[in-house]
Amino acid sequence: MTTWMDAIAVNELPAGESTAVELGNTELLLVNADGHFYAVENVCSHDGEALAGGEIDGEEIICPRHGARFCLKTGQVLCAPAYEDIKTYPVRITGNRVQVSVECDRD
Ligand code: FES
Repeated sequence: MTTWMDAIAVNELPAGESTAVELGNTELLLVNADGHFYAVENVCSHDGEALAGGEIDGEEIICPRHGARFCLKTGQVLCAPAYEDIKTYPVRITGNRVQVSVECDRD
């Protein structure tokens, strides 16, 4: 099952920046792309390295290792050397908090 989990305060992540967070058993990358928050898995589908530290370009992230590009909204891979999409997670703002819907072990 999935549940909404509290990640960070809105003002903790300025526009154009990202931060790795662990929610439940999920390690993800939270991104503020010009005021829109996105959550993607923090693993590049090319070589399994972290996407953390990658440049944010509009609604895209560029892997800091070899330059693969992914859509933050859909997880779609946009250029080589990666060929597989990455997972995305629903994000919502509640008050001043950024929350992400992730899978959890509870029934
Ligand atoms: S690990 Fe991301 S492009 Fe190679």
